[in-house]
Amino acid sequence: MAFKTRKPYLEAMVDLAPFQSPRPDEYAPMPKPLKRRDLKGLNIPDGPRSPLLTLRFQKDTPAFLINAKAEYGDCSSFFLAGQLFITAFSPEMVNEVTVSKQGSFIKGVGFDRMRKVLGSGLLTNEEPIHLRHRRLMQSPFHISKISTYAQTMLGLTRKHISNWRDGQVVAIGPEMMSLTFDIVADILFGTDISADTKRVQDSMHIAIDRIERTMLPGLDRLDNLPIPYFRKFERAANELHDVATRIVNERIASGVKRDDLMGVLLEAQTVDGEKLSAREISDETLTLILSGHETTANVLTWTFAYLSQNPKYWDDLAKEADEVFAREGDEDFARVILAAPLSGAIFSEVLRLAPPVWISPRRALEDVTLGGRQIPKGAHVLVSQYVTQRDENYFSSPNEFIPERWSNDFEKSLPRGAYFPFLAGSRKCLGDQFALLEGRIIILEIARQARLSLTGAFPKAQPRATYRPKGAVAMRYELI
Ligand code: HEM
Repeated sequence: MAFKTRKPYLEAMVDLAPFQSPRPDEYAPMPKPLKRRDLKGLNIPDGPRSPLLTLRFQKDTPAFLINAKAEYGDCSSFFLAGQLFITAFSPEMVNEVTVSKQGSFIKGVGFDRMRKVLGSGLLTNEEPIHLRHRRLMQSPFHISKISTYAQTMLGLTRKHISNWRDGQVVAIGPEMMSLTFDIVADILFGTDISADTKRVQDSMHIAIDRIERTMLPGLDRLDNLPIPYFRKFERAANELHDVATRIVNERIASGVKRDDLMGVLLEAQTVDGEKLSAREISDETLTLILSGHETTANVLTWTFAYLSQNPKYWDDLAKEADEVFAREGDEDFARVILAAPLSGAIFSEVLRLAPPVWISPRRALEDVTLGGRQIPKGAHVLVSQYVTQRDENYFSSPNEFIPERWSNDFEKSLPRGAYFPFLAGSRKCLGDQFALLEGRIIILEIARQARLSLTGAFPKAQPRATYRPKGAVAMRYELI
Protein backbone atom coordinates (compact mmCIF):
# COMPACT_ATOMS: atom_id res chain seq x y z
CA MET A 1 0.00 0.00 0.00
CA ALA A 2 1.57 3.31 -1.10
CA PHE A 3 2.09 6.23 1.26
CA LYS A 4 0.81 9.53 -0.02
CA THR A 5 3.18 12.48 -0.03
CA ARG A 6 0.76 14.71 1.83
CA LYS A 7 1.35 12.68 4.98
CA PRO A 8 4.90 13.67 5.84
CA TYR A 9 4.67 12.21 9.34
CA LEU A 10 4.20 8.78 7.79
CA GLU A 11 7.16 9.19 5.52
CA ALA A 12 9.30 10.06 8.51
CA MET A 13 8.04 7.01 10.36
CA VAL A 14 8.04 4.51 7.60
CA ASP A 15 11.37 2.90 8.45
CA LEU A 16 11.22 3.57 12.16
CA ALA A 17 9.31 1.52 14.68
CA PRO A 18 7.11 3.64 16.99
CA PHE A 19 9.69 3.45 19.79
CA GLN A 20 12.16 5.58 17.80
CA SER A 21 9.67 7.63 15.77
CA PRO A 22 9.77 11.38 16.35
CA ARG A 23 6.72 13.33 17.47
CA PRO A 24 4.92 14.11 14.19
CA ASP A 25 5.44 17.67 12.91
CA GLU A 26 1.72 17.97 12.18
CA TYR A 27 0.91 17.99 15.89
CA ALA A 28 0.75 21.28 17.76
CA PRO A 29 4.17 21.86 19.33
CA MET A 30 4.38 20.62 22.90
CA PRO A 31 4.22 23.72 25.13
CA LYS A 32 7.07 24.36 27.55
CA PRO A 33 6.33 23.01 31.03
CA LEU A 34 5.79 25.72 33.65
CA LYS A 35 8.29 25.93 36.51
CA ARG A 36 7.83 28.00 39.65
CA ARG A 37 9.98 30.78 38.26
CA ASP A 38 7.62 31.14 35.24
CA LEU A 39 4.65 31.87 37.46
CA LYS A 40 5.55 35.29 38.84
CA GLY A 41 2.57 37.63 38.61
CA LEU A 42 0.17 34.77 37.70
CA ASN A 43 -2.78 33.98 39.94
CA ILE A 44 -2.28 30.22 40.39
CA PRO A 45 -4.82 28.29 42.51
CA ASP A 46 -3.66 27.28 45.96
CA GLY A 47 -2.70 23.68 46.66
CA PRO A 48 -0.47 21.23 48.53
CA ARG A 49 3.22 22.22 48.69
CA SER A 50 4.83 19.60 50.96
CA PRO A 51 8.43 18.53 50.23
CA LEU A 52 7.15 14.94 50.40
CA LEU A 53 4.50 15.67 47.81
CA THR A 54 5.97 13.53 45.00
CA LEU A 55 6.21 10.57 47.37
CA ARG A 56 2.62 11.03 48.55
CA PHE A 57 1.43 11.45 44.98
CA GLN A 58 3.23 8.30 43.83
CA LYS A 59 2.20 6.23 46.84
CA ASP A 60 -1.55 6.67 46.39
CA THR A 61 -2.51 9.09 43.62
CA PRO A 62 -6.32 8.76 43.99
CA ALA A 63 -6.10 9.48 47.74
CA PHE A 64 -3.75 12.42 47.05
CA LEU A 65 -6.24 13.91 44.58
CA ILE A 66 -9.27 13.30 46.84
CA ASN A 67 -7.43 15.04 49.69
CA ALA A 68 -6.45 17.96 47.45
CA LYS A 69 -10.13 18.39 46.55
CA ALA A 70 -11.24 18.16 50.17
CA GLU A 71 -8.70 20.76 51.24
CA TYR A 72 -8.49 23.14 48.28
CA GLY A 73 -11.66 22.51 46.25
CA ASP A 74 -12.12 21.57 42.59
CA CYS A 75 -9.24 23.63 41.27
CA SER A 76 -5.91 23.32 43.04
CA SER A 77 -2.28 23.33 41.97
CA PHE A 78 0.88 21.43 42.88
CA PHE A 79 4.33 20.75 41.44
CA LEU A 80 5.62 17.38 40.28
CA ALA A 81 9.15 17.08 38.92
CA GLY A 82 9.19 20.87 39.24
CA GLN A 83 6.29 21.28 36.77
CA LEU A 84 2.92 22.94 37.41
CA PHE A 85 -0.13 20.68 37.66
CA ILE A 86 -3.70 21.98 38.02
CA THR A 87 -6.74 19.91 38.96
CA ALA A 88 -10.08 20.42 37.19
CA PHE A 89 -12.61 18.44 39.22
CA SER A 90 -15.96 20.27 38.94
CA PRO A 91 -18.31 18.98 36.22
CA GLU A 92 -18.17 22.45 34.64
CA MET A 93 -14.37 22.29 34.36
CA VAL A 94 -14.43 18.68 33.17
CA ASN A 95 -16.87 19.65 30.43
CA GLU A 96 -14.67 22.57 29.43
CA VAL A 97 -11.50 20.46 29.23
CA THR A 98 -13.10 17.56 27.38
CA VAL A 99 -15.74 19.26 25.23
CA SER A 100 -16.30 23.00 25.02
CA LYS A 101 -12.61 24.03 25.16
CA GLN A 102 -11.02 20.76 24.06
CA GLY A 103 -9.10 22.53 21.28
CA SER A 104 -7.05 24.30 23.95
CA PHE A 105 -5.60 20.99 25.19
CA ILE A 106 -3.51 18.09 24.02
CA LYS A 107 -2.99 14.81 25.83
CA GLY A 108 -0.69 15.01 28.81
CA VAL A 109 1.75 12.98 30.87
CA GLY A 110 2.15 9.38 29.76
CA PHE A 111 0.71 9.63 26.26
CA ASP A 112 4.02 10.50 24.54
CA ARG A 113 5.50 7.35 25.99
CA MET A 114 2.49 5.34 25.04
CA ARG A 115 3.13 6.52 21.48
CA LYS A 116 6.40 4.60 21.63
CA VAL A 117 4.37 1.42 21.84
CA LEU A 118 1.18 2.24 19.98
CA GLY A 119 2.55 4.58 17.30
CA SER A 120 0.04 6.96 15.81
CA GLY A 121 -3.09 5.07 16.90
CA LEU A 122 -6.23 6.86 18.04
CA LEU A 123 -5.40 6.87 21.72
CA THR A 124 -2.09 8.70 21.30
CA ASN A 125 -2.69 10.66 18.10
CA GLU A 126 -3.14 14.43 18.13
CA GLU A 127 -4.89 16.73 15.69
CA PRO A 128 -5.08 17.02 12.77
CA ILE A 129 -4.21 13.33 12.28
CA HIS A 130 -6.45 12.09 15.07
CA LEU A 131 -9.72 13.35 13.59
CA ARG A 132 -8.95 11.93 10.17
CA HIS A 133 -8.39 8.47 11.68
CA ARG A 134 -11.36 8.81 13.98
CA ARG A 135 -13.70 9.45 11.04
CA LEU A 136 -12.34 6.43 9.19
CA MET A 137 -12.69 4.19 12.20
CA GLN A 138 -16.10 5.20 13.39
CA SER A 139 -18.20 2.82 11.30
CA PRO A 140 -17.06 -0.51 12.82
CA PHE A 141 -17.89 0.89 16.25
CA HIS A 142 -21.34 2.17 15.37
CA ILE A 143 -24.06 0.45 17.36
CA SER A 144 -25.53 -1.18 14.21
CA LYS A 145 -22.18 -2.89 13.57
CA ILE A 146 -21.47 -3.65 17.23
CA SER A 147 -24.65 -5.75 17.30
CA THR A 148 -23.08 -8.22 14.91
CA TYR A 149 -20.32 -8.85 17.48
CA ALA A 150 -22.77 -9.89 20.23
CA GLN A 151 -22.85 -13.53 19.16
CA THR A 152 -19.04 -13.76 19.06
CA MET A 153 -18.81 -12.20 22.52
CA LEU A 154 -21.34 -14.64 23.92
CA GLY A 155 -19.76 -17.66 22.20
CA LEU A 156 -16.29 -16.85 23.53
CA THR A 157 -17.66 -16.21 27.04
CA ARG A 158 -19.36 -19.62 27.02
CA LYS A 159 -16.24 -21.34 25.73
CA HIS A 160 -14.11 -19.63 28.36
CA ILE A 161 -16.23 -20.40 31.40
CA SER A 162 -16.88 -23.96 30.27
CA ASN A 163 -13.33 -24.60 31.55
CA TRP A 164 -14.35 -23.64 35.10
CA ARG A 165 -15.56 -26.42 37.36
CA ASP A 166 -18.21 -26.22 40.08
CA GLY A 167 -16.55 -25.25 43.38
CA GLN A 168 -13.27 -24.27 41.71
CA VAL A 169 -11.34 -21.20 42.88
CA VAL A 170 -10.77 -19.00 39.85
CA ALA A 171 -8.26 -16.12 39.46
CA ILE A 172 -10.85 -13.68 38.14
CA GLY A 173 -8.41 -10.89 37.22
CA PRO A 174 -6.31 -12.93 34.76
CA GLU A 175 -9.39 -14.85 33.58
CA MET A 176 -11.21 -11.66 32.62
CA MET A 177 -8.05 -10.33 31.00
CA SER A 178 -7.69 -13.40 28.81
CA LEU A 179 -11.41 -13.51 27.93
CA THR A 180 -11.58 -9.84 26.89
CA PHE A 181 -8.30 -10.23 24.99
CA ASP A 182 -9.71 -13.20 23.05
CA ILE A 183 -12.88 -11.25 22.28
CA VAL A 184 -11.19 -8.12 20.95
CA ALA A 185 -8.54 -10.14 19.06
CA ASP A 186 -11.15 -12.39 17.46
CA ILE A 187 -13.37 -9.50 16.41
CA LEU A 188 -10.40 -7.50 15.19
CA PHE A 189 -8.31 -10.10 13.40
CA GLY A 190 -10.38 -13.26 13.17
CA THR A 191 -8.03 -16.17 13.57
CA ASP A 192 -4.93 -14.37 12.28
CA ILE A 193 -3.54 -13.69 15.72
CA SER A 194 -4.09 -16.98 17.54
CA ALA A 195 -0.48 -18.16 17.05
CA ASP A 196 0.82 -14.86 18.46
CA THR A 197 -1.57 -14.35 21.37
CA LYS A 198 0.95 -15.21 24.08
CA ARG A 199 3.74 -13.08 22.58
CA VAL A 200 1.42 -10.11 22.22
CA GLN A 201 0.11 -10.46 25.78
CA ASP A 202 3.63 -10.80 27.25
CA SER A 203 5.04 -7.84 25.31
CA MET A 204 2.00 -5.71 26.11
CA HIS A 205 2.48 -6.51 29.77
CA ILE A 206 6.16 -5.46 29.75
CA ALA A 207 5.55 -2.27 27.75
CA ILE A 208 2.67 -1.10 29.93
CA ASP A 209 4.54 -1.95 33.11
CA ARG A 210 7.48 0.25 32.01
CA ILE A 211 5.22 3.14 31.04
CA GLU A 212 3.36 2.99 34.33
CA ARG A 213 6.33 2.74 36.65
CA THR A 214 8.03 5.80 35.19
CA MET A 215 5.04 8.05 34.59
CA LEU A 216 6.31 11.34 36.05
CA PRO A 217 7.13 14.09 33.53
CA GLY A 218 10.71 13.99 32.28
CA LEU A 219 11.30 10.29 33.01
CA ASP A 220 10.93 9.45 29.31
CA ARG A 221 14.54 10.66 29.05
CA LEU A 222 15.52 7.32 30.57
CA ASP A 223 14.01 5.26 27.77
CA ASN A 224 17.15 5.28 25.60
CA LEU A 225 19.61 4.48 28.38
CA PRO A 226 21.59 1.24 27.98
CA ILE A 227 19.91 -0.24 31.06
CA PRO A 228 18.34 -3.71 30.64
CA TYR A 229 15.05 -2.51 32.18
CA PHE A 230 14.54 0.07 29.43
CA ARG A 231 16.03 -2.04 26.62
CA LYS A 232 13.42 -4.65 27.48
CA PHE A 233 10.82 -1.91 27.06
CA GLU A 234 12.11 -1.18 23.55
CA ARG A 235 12.23 -4.87 22.62
CA ALA A 236 8.64 -5.37 23.79
CA ALA A 237 7.43 -2.32 21.85
CA ASN A 238 9.27 -3.50 18.72
CA GLU A 239 7.90 -7.00 19.08
CA LEU A 240 4.33 -5.67 19.20
CA HIS A 241 4.97 -3.50 16.18
CA ASP A 242 6.47 -6.44 14.24
CA VAL A 243 3.57 -8.78 15.00
CA ALA A 244 0.93 -6.19 14.07
CA THR A 245 2.78 -5.21 10.88
CA ARG A 246 3.18 -8.81 9.81
CA ILE A 247 -0.48 -9.64 10.42
CA VAL A 248 -1.67 -6.60 8.47
CA ASN A 249 0.77 -7.21 5.61
CA GLU A 250 -0.14 -10.91 5.39
CA ARG A 251 -3.80 -10.02 5.24
CA ILE A 252 -3.20 -7.49 2.46
CA ALA A 253 -1.02 -9.93 0.52
CA SER A 254 -3.59 -12.73 0.84
CA GLY A 255 -6.19 -10.57 -0.88
CA VAL A 256 -8.81 -12.22 1.36
CA LYS A 257 -11.70 -9.92 2.24
CA ARG A 258 -13.18 -10.72 5.64
CA ASP A 259 -15.80 -8.92 7.60
CA ASP A 260 -13.78 -8.66 10.82
CA LEU A 261 -12.70 -5.28 12.12
CA MET A 262 -9.38 -5.35 10.30
CA GLY A 263 -11.24 -6.06 7.05
CA VAL A 264 -13.38 -3.02 7.76
CA LEU A 265 -10.30 -0.87 8.52
CA LEU A 266 -8.65 -2.01 5.28
CA GLU A 267 -11.73 -1.00 3.30
CA ALA A 268 -12.58 2.19 5.22
CA GLN A 269 -12.22 5.36 3.18
CA THR A 270 -13.23 9.00 3.30
CA VAL A 271 -15.64 10.50 0.75
CA ASP A 272 -12.63 11.64 -1.29
CA GLY A 273 -11.27 8.08 -1.36
CA GLU A 274 -8.49 8.42 1.20
CA LYS A 275 -7.69 5.21 3.10
CA LEU A 276 -5.63 4.21 6.08
CA SER A 277 -2.17 2.93 5.15
CA ALA A 278 -0.84 -0.47 6.29
CA ARG A 279 1.30 1.26 8.90
CA GLU A 280 -1.65 3.23 10.24
CA ILE A 281 -3.79 0.08 10.42
CA SER A 282 -1.03 -1.71 12.26
CA ASP A 283 -0.82 1.13 14.84
CA GLU A 284 -4.59 1.21 15.15
CA THR A 285 -4.88 -2.53 15.69
CA LEU A 286 -2.36 -2.42 18.53
CA THR A 287 -4.25 0.54 20.00
CA LEU A 288 -7.54 -1.34 19.85
CA ILE A 289 -6.07 -4.47 21.39
CA LEU A 290 -4.64 -2.49 24.28
CA SER A 291 -7.53 -0.11 24.89
CA GLY A 292 -10.07 -2.81 24.14
CA HIS A 293 -9.25 -5.45 26.72
CA GLU A 294 -7.61 -4.29 29.94
CA THR A 295 -10.21 -1.63 30.68
CA THR A 296 -13.16 -3.98 30.31
CA ALA A 297 -11.36 -6.78 32.17
CA ASN A 298 -10.74 -4.51 35.16
CA VAL A 299 -14.28 -3.28 35.38
CA LEU A 300 -15.57 -6.87 35.20
CA THR A 301 -13.21 -8.00 37.96
CA TRP A 302 -14.42 -5.14 40.17
CA THR A 303 -18.03 -6.01 39.27
CA PHE A 304 -17.68 -9.57 40.51
CA ALA A 305 -15.97 -8.33 43.67
CA TYR A 306 -18.86 -5.92 44.35
CA LEU A 307 -21.40 -8.67 43.60
CA SER A 308 -19.63 -10.95 46.03
CA GLN A 309 -20.05 -8.26 48.70
CA ASN A 310 -23.66 -7.63 47.66
CA PRO A 311 -24.99 -11.12 46.85
CA LYS A 312 -28.64 -9.97 46.95
CA TYR A 313 -28.32 -8.98 43.25
CA TRP A 314 -27.42 -12.44 41.90
CA ASP A 315 -30.95 -13.90 41.72
CA ASP A 316 -32.40 -10.91 39.90
CA LEU A 317 -29.42 -10.88 37.54
CA ALA A 318 -30.04 -14.55 36.74
CA LYS A 319 -33.69 -13.75 35.98
CA GLU A 320 -32.64 -10.88 33.74
CA ALA A 321 -30.16 -13.18 32.00
CA ASP A 322 -32.90 -15.75 31.25
CA GLU A 323 -35.12 -13.06 29.74
CA VAL A 324 -32.32 -11.54 27.67
CA PHE A 325 -30.87 -14.80 26.38
CA ALA A 326 -34.33 -16.04 25.39
CA ARG A 327 -34.00 -13.42 22.62
CA GLU A 328 -30.62 -14.77 21.45
CA GLY A 329 -31.45 -15.25 17.79
CA ASP A 330 -33.25 -11.89 17.43
CA GLU A 331 -31.93 -9.25 15.09
CA ASP A 332 -31.95 -6.67 17.88
CA PHE A 333 -30.27 -8.99 20.42
CA ALA A 334 -27.58 -6.39 21.21
CA ARG A 335 -30.17 -3.69 21.88
CA VAL A 336 -32.06 -6.08 24.18
CA ILE A 337 -28.86 -6.66 26.16
CA LEU A 338 -28.04 -2.95 26.32
CA ALA A 339 -31.57 -2.18 27.59
CA ALA A 340 -31.47 -4.75 30.42
CA PRO A 341 -31.87 -2.57 33.52
CA LEU A 342 -30.17 -4.39 36.41
CA SER A 343 -26.95 -5.43 34.67
CA GLY A 344 -26.88 -1.91 33.21
CA ALA A 345 -27.23 -0.25 36.62
CA ILE A 346 -24.59 -2.51 38.16
CA PHE A 347 -22.13 -1.83 35.34
CA SER A 348 -22.76 1.95 35.56
CA GLU A 349 -22.20 1.92 39.30
CA VAL A 350 -18.92 -0.01 39.00
CA LEU A 351 -17.78 2.39 36.25
CA ARG A 352 -18.51 5.20 38.71
CA LEU A 353 -16.66 3.73 41.69
CA ALA A 354 -13.82 1.95 39.88
CA PRO A 355 -13.48 3.70 36.51
CA PRO A 356 -10.79 1.81 34.54
CA VAL A 357 -9.62 5.12 33.06
CA TRP A 358 -9.59 7.03 36.30
CA ILE A 359 -7.52 10.05 35.30
CA SER A 360 -7.14 11.87 31.98
CA PRO A 361 -4.04 14.08 31.92
CA ARG A 362 -3.93 17.02 29.52
CA ARG A 363 -1.59 19.93 28.67
CA ALA A 364 -2.88 23.48 28.07
CA LEU A 365 -1.82 24.55 24.57
CA GLU A 366 -2.72 28.17 25.29
CA ASP A 367 -3.93 30.36 28.14
CA VAL A 368 -7.49 29.29 28.90
CA THR A 369 -10.11 29.77 31.62
CA LEU A 370 -11.62 26.79 33.43
CA GLY A 371 -14.51 27.40 35.82
CA GLY A 372 -13.61 31.07 35.58
CA ARG A 373 -9.98 30.47 36.69
CA GLN A 374 -7.11 31.48 34.45
CA ILE A 375 -4.98 28.46 33.47
CA PRO A 376 -1.63 29.31 31.85
CA LYS A 377 -0.30 27.76 28.65
CA GLY A 378 1.94 24.78 29.41
CA ALA A 379 0.19 23.73 32.64
CA HIS A 380 -0.55 20.05 33.15
CA VAL A 381 -4.29 19.77 33.75
CA LEU A 382 -5.77 16.71 35.47
CA VAL A 383 -9.39 15.67 35.17
CA SER A 384 -10.21 12.55 37.13
CA GLN A 385 -13.19 10.25 36.67
CA TYR A 386 -12.37 8.75 40.06
CA VAL A 387 -12.54 12.05 41.94
CA THR A 388 -15.47 13.76 40.18
CA GLN A 389 -17.62 10.62 40.17
CA ARG A 390 -17.34 10.53 43.97
CA ASP A 391 -18.55 14.11 44.42
CA GLU A 392 -21.35 14.03 47.00
CA ASN A 393 -23.06 17.00 45.37
CA TYR A 394 -24.10 14.62 42.61
CA PHE A 395 -23.87 11.16 44.16
CA SER A 396 -25.30 10.63 47.62
CA SER A 397 -23.26 8.27 49.84
CA PRO A 398 -20.60 8.56 47.13
CA ASN A 399 -18.34 5.74 48.33
CA GLU A 400 -21.12 3.18 48.55
CA PHE A 401 -22.13 0.67 45.90
CA ILE A 402 -25.77 1.59 45.13
CA PRO A 403 -26.83 0.42 41.64
CA GLU A 404 -30.40 1.59 42.37
CA ARG A 405 -29.28 5.22 41.99
CA TRP A 406 -29.19 4.65 38.21
CA SER A 407 -32.98 4.05 37.96
CA ASN A 408 -35.40 6.70 36.64
CA ASP A 409 -32.96 8.09 34.10
CA PHE A 410 -30.66 9.33 36.89
CA GLU A 411 -27.80 9.82 34.41
CA LYS A 412 -29.86 12.34 32.43
CA SER A 413 -30.39 14.40 35.59
CA LEU A 414 -26.63 14.87 36.08
CA PRO A 415 -24.84 17.97 34.79
CA ARG A 416 -22.42 17.39 31.93
CA GLY A 417 -19.03 16.36 33.21
CA ALA A 418 -20.29 14.76 36.44
CA TYR A 419 -20.14 11.17 35.13
CA PHE A 420 -17.72 10.44 32.29
CA PRO A 421 -16.18 6.95 32.51
CA PHE A 422 -15.74 7.00 28.72
CA LEU A 423 -14.78 10.71 28.65
CA ALA A 424 -16.61 13.06 26.24
CA GLY A 425 -15.92 15.22 23.20
CA SER A 426 -13.78 14.15 20.26
CA ARG A 427 -11.53 12.03 22.50
CA LYS A 428 -14.46 10.05 23.89
CA CYS A 429 -13.86 6.32 23.99
CA LEU A 430 -14.45 4.84 20.55
CA GLY A 431 -15.33 1.48 22.04
CA ASP A 432 -17.92 2.55 24.64
CA GLN A 433 -20.82 0.59 23.10
CA PHE A 434 -18.50 -2.35 22.43
CA ALA A 435 -17.45 -2.35 26.11
CA LEU A 436 -20.99 -1.95 27.44
CA LEU A 437 -22.25 -4.81 25.30
CA GLU A 438 -19.33 -7.08 26.10
CA GLY A 439 -19.37 -6.31 29.82
CA ARG A 440 -23.07 -6.98 30.20
CA ILE A 441 -22.93 -10.19 28.15
CA ILE A 442 -20.18 -11.54 30.42
CA ILE A 443 -21.95 -10.53 33.66
CA LEU A 444 -25.28 -11.96 32.51
CA GLU A 445 -23.86 -15.20 31.14
CA ILE A 446 -22.02 -15.91 34.39
CA ALA A 447 -25.02 -14.90 36.56
CA ARG A 448 -27.29 -17.18 34.49
CA GLN A 449 -25.51 -20.27 35.73
CA ALA A 450 -23.32 -19.53 38.74
CA ARG A 451 -22.26 -17.37 41.66
CA LEU A 452 -18.79 -15.97 42.29
CA SER A 453 -17.63 -15.19 45.81
CA LEU A 454 -14.34 -13.75 47.03
CA THR A 455 -12.20 -16.23 48.94
CA GLY A 456 -10.37 -13.36 50.68
CA ALA A 457 -10.90 -9.69 51.49
CA PHE A 458 -12.32 -7.17 49.04
CA PRO A 459 -9.44 -6.38 46.64
CA LYS A 460 -7.30 -3.31 47.13
CA ALA A 461 -6.80 -1.04 44.15
CA GLN A 462 -3.56 -0.74 42.22
CA PRO A 463 -4.21 2.46 40.31
CA ARG A 464 -1.75 2.91 37.49
CA ALA A 465 -2.57 3.67 33.84
CA THR A 466 -5.84 1.89 34.62
CA TYR A 467 -7.64 1.48 37.94
CA ARG A 468 -7.04 -2.19 38.46
CA PRO A 469 -7.53 -4.51 41.41
CA LYS A 470 -4.33 -5.64 43.08
CA GLY A 471 -3.47 -9.30 42.68
CA ALA A 472 -5.33 -12.06 40.91
CA VAL A 473 -8.63 -11.73 42.90
CA ALA A 474 -9.40 -15.35 43.79
CA MET A 475 -13.10 -16.20 43.68
CA ARG A 476 -15.03 -19.42 44.17
CA TYR A 477 -17.20 -20.39 41.21
CA GLU A 478 -20.37 -22.26 42.21
CA LEU A 479 -23.03 -23.44 39.82
CA ILE A 480 -26.67 -22.78 40.83
C1 HEM B 1 -15.19 -0.32 30.23
C2 HEM B 1 -14.31 -0.26 29.28
C3 HEM B 1 -13.71 1.02 28.75
C4 HEM B 1 -13.56 2.23 29.35
C5 HEM B 1 -14.00 2.65 30.74
C6 HEM B 1 -12.91 3.10 28.40
C7 HEM B 1 -12.61 4.43 28.64
C8 HEM B 1 -11.94 5.26 27.76
C9 HEM B 1 -11.57 6.62 28.03
C10 HEM B 1 -11.88 7.38 29.31
C11 HEM B 1 -10.92 7.09 26.94
C12 HEM B 1 -10.31 8.48 26.77
C13 HEM B 1 -8.91 8.52 27.36
C14 HEM B 1 -8.33 9.91 27.33
O1 HEM B 1 -8.38 10.57 26.28
O2 HEM B 1 -7.79 10.35 28.35
C15 HEM B 1 -10.90 6.03 25.96
C16 HEM B 1 -10.35 6.15 24.70
C17 HEM B 1 -10.40 5.15 23.76
N1 HEM B 1 -10.95 3.89 23.91
FE1 HEM B 1 -11.88 3.18 25.54
N2 HEM B 1 -12.66 2.40 27.26
C18 HEM B 1 -13.15 1.13 27.41
C19 HEM B 1 -13.14 0.11 26.48
C20 HEM B 1 -12.75 0.25 25.17
C21 HEM B 1 -12.88 -0.75 24.15
C22 HEM B 1 -13.55 -2.11 24.35
C23 HEM B 1 -12.31 -0.25 23.01
C24 HEM B 1 -12.17 -0.86 21.64
C25 HEM B 1 -12.51 -2.06 21.30
C26 HEM B 1 -11.82 1.09 23.33
C27 HEM B 1 -11.18 1.92 22.45
C28 HEM B 1 -10.78 3.21 22.74
C29 HEM B 1 -10.09 4.06 21.78
C30 HEM B 1 -9.71 3.71 20.35
C31 HEM B 1 -9.86 5.29 22.43
C32 HEM B 1 -9.21 6.55 21.83
C33 HEM B 1 -10.32 7.42 21.25
C34 HEM B 1 -9.84 8.74 20.67
O3 HEM B 1 -9.01 9.43 21.27
O4 HEM B 1 -10.36 9.07 19.59
N3 HEM B 1 -12.11 1.36 24.65
N4 HEM B 1 -11.51 4.92 26.48
